[in-house]
Amino acid sequence: MKILVIGSGGREHGLVWKIKQSPLVSKLYCAPGNAGISSIAEIVPIKATDKNALLLFAKYEGIDLTVVGPEHPLTEGIVDLFESNGLKTFGPSRLAAELEGSKVFSKQFMKRYDIPTAEFRSFNIEERFDAERYINEVPVPIVIKADGLAAGKGVTVCETKEQALETLDSMFEQKVFGEAGSKIVIEEFLVGEEASVFALTDGKEYVVLSPAQDHKRILDGDKGKNTGGMGAYAPTSIVTDEVLNRVKRDIIRPTLLGMAKEGRQYKGCLYIGLMITETGPKVVEYNCRFGDPETQIVLPLIDEDIVPFLFEIANGKLSKTKIKLKNASAVCVVIASRGYPDRYEVDKSIVGLDAIKEQNVVVFHAGTKYNKDDIVTSGGRVLGVTAIGVDLEETVDEAYRAVEKITFDGAYYRSDIGKKGIERI
Ligand code: AMP
Ligand code: GLY
Repeated sequence: MKILVIGSGGREHGLVWKIKQSPLVSKLYCAPGNAGISSIAEIVPIKATDKNALLLFAKYEGIDLTVVGPEHPLTEGIVDLFESNGLKTFGPSRLAAELEGSKVFSKQFMKRYDIPTAEFRSFNIEERFDAERYINEVPVPIVIKADGLAAGKGVTVCETKEQALETLDSMFEQKVFGEAGSKIVIEEFLVGEEASVFALTDGKEYVVLSPAQDHKRILDGDKGKNTGGMGAYAPTSIVTDEVLNRVKRDIIRPTLLGMAKEGRQYKGCLYIGLMITETGPKVVEYNCRFGDPETQIVLPLIDEDIVPFLFEIANGKLSKTKIKLKNASAVCVVIASRGYPDRYEVDKSIVGLDAIKEQNVVVFHAGTKYNKDDIVTSGGRVLGVTAIGVDLEETVDEAYRAVEKITFDGAYYRSDIGKKGIERI
């Protein structure tokens, strides 16, 4: 089978790494990939958002299965385009991807199907005065979210009413998120710990991967700015069997049924971002794709070939209701470049990659490229160092021992990835 993975980050390195292990694969491509991916797949120099060029390539090469990593091509309908050209593709259609592409849609959807989530109201740019009135009525903190994709920056937790009004102004007047901020959601602040659950689904049947906990803030102790994710571990004991059963019954099942009913059958990986509150799990967000860096821990914990799952789902018929998971823990520590999540430095030579020889450690590349024979940084998140082991605490130590062997000018990582999980034990 010839497989094409679309994307260039740590998530895509994770996907390529796992898919590569399948005996069903004869040829593996990644567009546009990165330096790490180039050692295990053939790089295709086409951007993830250039869907017409990707289509031409996939048709020309006779690709049997395309796996789409990032959200942008999905919300722009790459799956619809590929499928209408007879190409099997893992990922949701444009309409299904709106679960991530529009917060207003996803919140109203959850309301229609009684799916547990924060209380909210949505407003468009003409309803500014109603939004102001609402802000003045409800208690703080409150959360304001731009409707559209905003590279993980569209959410502001407002501690005061003044901050909420300023945030409103930045979205509706200064238009900092452009079109993405012309509609907003204002919602209740949820108290609890976050976790993420991934369902691989054909829209009816699904299997869930190990529940994960991401670390979204840039600094230790969950302080500082929000990022795409600075590290993650799985499984997380915050998602107990009881919580997971509730997630399946009250969230995944009604989400799939509701989407199918509305003509938006969801096929691909459904990412459910959860807040585990005192009254149970609530949805913070849906994403229409695998998480990053969660992919770099949940895929190494799968104890069987992933390709049959991806292929069956792309064909619209998943025959399995369970996926074999390892009885182990995985931890990923992200090494970022100075400045991230704002403007970050690039083109720094990375040293120490060759020093990682441990069987149970994998270095996933997120923002790297070749400069002649040197591997240099090219993104804000540069590497994700994953360790797999039996005991969470030992696995965390193993990951950090590897992280300490790698460096580049301005390398930065959090030192407390997995700590919450260890403390809970
Ligand atoms: P989102 O892009 O919707 O996942 O939001 C980004 C981050 O903002 C989440 O990971 C949470 O840490 C935080 N957040 C979003 N919505 C809420 C909420 N209703 N209550 C508390 N924190 C939230
Ligand atoms: N790690 C968060 C995300 O993938 O959206």
